[in-house]
Amino acid sequence: MNREFDDLLHELKQSLKIAENDYDLNNIRSQFLGKKSRISKMMKQIGSIEPAKRPLFGKKINEIKQQIDSLIVSRADEIEQHQYEETLAKEQVDLTMPGVQPPVGSLHPLTLMRRELEDIFISLGFDVVEGYDIEDEYHNFDALNTPENHPARNEMDTFYIKASNTRPKQSNNRLLLRSQTSTMQVRTMENNQPPIKMVSIGRCYRNDKPDKSHSPFFHQMEGLTVDEGINFLDLRDILIKFARLMFGESIQWRFRPHYFPFTEPSAEFDIRCFKCYGEGCSICKQSGWIEIGGAGMVDTNVFDIVGIDSEKYTGYAFGLGIDRITMLKYRIPDIRLLFENDLRFLEQFR
Ligand code: PHE
Repeated sequence: MNREFDDLLHELKQSLKIAENDYDLNNIRSQFLGKKSRISKMMKQIGSIEPAKRPLFGKKINEIKQQIDSLIVSRADEIEQHQYEETLAKEQVDLTMPGVQPPVGSLHPLTLMRRELEDIFISLGFDVVEGYDIEDEYHNFDALNTPENHPARNEMDTFYIKASNTRPKQSNNRLLLRSQTSTMQVRTMENNQPPIKMVSIGRCYRNDKPDKSHSPFFHQMEGLTVDEGINFLDLRDILIKFARLMFGESIQWRFRPHYFPFTEPSAEFDIRCFKCYGEGCSICKQSGWIEIGGAGMVDTNVFDIVGIDSEKYTGYAFGLGIDRITMLKYRIPDIRLLFENDLRFLEQFR
């Protein structure tokens, strides 16, 4: 009998030695203590044993069962401890290692430009005014002295908003995405009497096919000064001051006569091409010059529309292409780079 128990325990110890996990331990438990185990079979033989010896036999069986159980439990503890140590070793943290750097963003070149422009014009005595992307025909065209049949009003050029839910159907003052920041000239003069000296930077929209130098949305900065005795020389003076502060003292510039419905006389403002310095290249379309904006003296019709006394006051207005100026300043060859949000491009503006 004892021999048999010794063999059993020996066999159990061998099995436990190679057990690695709960699955192995469960198998061992059912092999040594389950219904089909040798112990269970021995228990069943109790009936064939002399009645006087039965209690002792039963006691012995129970002892051996407990021994088997405690051997299995202690092996389970051992395995658990071992697994825990393995996990600790695997997950060890080296507190002296440098941390992981979180990715750091940078300001968009147009944001840098906006801030620089605002700083320059604030230093020249201008107020900064916020505008709206969604405007109406009145502020984008009518009040800017733009006739009904002007080509810019065409739906091929300007994005109109289907406004059936927001405006009465009959309204002939349709909503649109503003095509120029000049809307802010009107709004400023509607709400303020001279002296006025303001700039307003924002996004504009035109139905242009995207290419190197065109995008269906772009940015402009409007400038407006209205006071007694303002003349074209003041306008020329402020734009040259701006060009020097932005591009350096040696920048070359020129004005070309032009036409805008809301300024008279009007001009376009060019600066020397940053790429070829006048030789002629693909960026300046061989002209040696790059146009950065339009300007002129506020038309008396506009003063009449907004209710400013055109006998007493004169004023100048200008509109600068911010994307162009950004491209010039940072030598960006394609306007689309400004809107594609490619990190390889943006990261260069740290
Ligand atoms: N709004 C004009 C344009 O988009 C530019 C401009 C602004 C011209 C102010 C004159 C005065 O082309």
